Amino acid sequence: MPPEEKSFHMTSEEFRRHGRAVVDWIADYYDRIESLPVLSSVKPGEIRAALPPQPPAAGEPFDAILGDVERVILPGITHWQSPNFFAYFPANASPPAILGELLSAGFGVQGMLWATSPACTELETHVLDWLVGMLGLPDKFLSSGAGGGVIQDTASSATLCALLAARERATGFAVNQRGGDARLTAYTSTQAHSSVEKAVKIAGLGRENLRLIEVDDKFAMRPEALARAMDEDRRAGRVPCFVCATVGTTSSNALDPVAEIGALCKERGVWLHVDAAMSGTAALCPEFRSIHRGLELADSYCFNPHKWMFTNFDCDCFYVADRRALIEALSVLPEYLRNPATESGAVFDYRDWQIPLGRRFRALKLWFVIRHYGVEGLQHHIRRHVELAQQFAAWVRADERFELAAPAPLNLVCFRHRGGDAANQTLLDRLNQSGALYLTHTRLHDRLTLRLAVGQTRTEARHVARAWQLIQQEASGL
Ligand SMILES: Cc1ncc(COP(=O)(O)O)c(C=O)c1O
Repeated sequence: MPPEEKSFHMTSEEFRRHGRAVVDWIADYYDRIESLPVLSSVKPGEIRAALPPQPPAAGEPFDAILGDVERVILPGITHWQSPNFFAYFPANASPPAILGELLSAGFGVQGMLWATSPACTELETHVLDWLVGMLGLPDKFLSSGAGGGVIQDTASSATLCALLAARERATGFAVNQRGGDARLTAYTSTQAHSSVEKAVKIAGLGRENLRLIEVDDKFAMRPEALARAMDEDRRAGRVPCFVCATVGTTSSNALDPVAEIGALCKERGVWLHVDAAMSGTAALCPEFRSIHRGLELADSYCFNPHKWMFTNFDCDCFYVADRRALIEALSVLPEYLRNPATESGAVFDYRDWQIPLGRRFRALKLWFVIRHYGVEGLQHHIRRHVELAQQFAAWVRADERFELAAPAPLNLVCFRHRGGDAANQTLLDRLNQSGALYLTHTRLHDRLTLRLAVGQTRTEARHVARAWQLIQQEASGL
């Protein structure tokens, strides 16, 4: 018998025990999360100061590590999963998603090629096809036709991939070969997410070639202004290649008119990408599907289950109508990745649909979520969030000290105290410092505006009612 090899690895028995302890810790965390101040109040450097300057030379007991999660890490956590978190857009999680994520870590597969783990690719294709039906998306995004869906880490990556495909389609795949000549132009509204500007910079179009199109009084892109901008550019010898419309802007949840924008893009042969990062999830409910009116005219589309669909970060679903443009733009096949399945042309290799080579088995958590909740369960919670936000909007409307700052079509309410910017800043600071809830702000018509987004997994009527009560109380003390 050879001597047993020296090992520092965790044994199966220890893994079982500590794994249970971690799951218990998370379950307890969710049970007590309401008692924790939503916004972390640590000062810069405080967390690092509590950590040892040097790493341990000898391994430590797991209990000590978990103990430090409680002692050192927890105070520096802003509790995104708190039912009193109403800031930004939600990034909600749920137990089935967490368990799917755990299993993904357990498998530890790299799904870059179909051949490197067939289930990783096929489950992803299948679940993304399910979502086409679940959200009522156009059939052209199904993998059975010329299009298909892929999971990206974020909406930012989806937008970048869409832009790269658009750039290559517009130039006959020449920029990939020879580089650009600064003639390509891209368009989005003044209210679009900053990731569009970032994509334009990364893709080499140049910030000066991104046109920010003006919006109407509902903060939605004006199609006639878009048409004007594209036509002016064309007359000046530039090449309009990409439009990004937003369904649910980050600032105010404005809905760009996709049908009108899509018609303009079609006429001019310009790629239309639709970014529905947060609000796309609403389309699970048939009564909200009008937000996607005109989507059949889009070349690509994305929404983030990691925002509002109970699937923990990261998980963005990205669809293209013609996968060839995307794959041709991004595919590079070195010898060491050649394999019979790829060569047969019968499989998807998702490395060709994204920027990095490696990819995690993200479809597991999405599959777990959809199977745990079922379509009806998901619809129930999304409807409830919208109802709660609408109730909040009604309370704001009924209180003469406040006003709504933008339409509230779904689960985001933009509102402000009529007392002006200073009053709203004080209100926001006091509310957030209380730890009882967390709101963030935006500026609309150059006025400070408070935002309340309802989308956390455990947010119920009582949390929204209490938030309004606290807002009213603080307003009385202004
Ligand atoms: C409309 C919109 N697009 C894009 C993003 C960026 O999302 P991600 O973090 O997935 O890149 C956000 C984030 O809030 C968003 O609201």
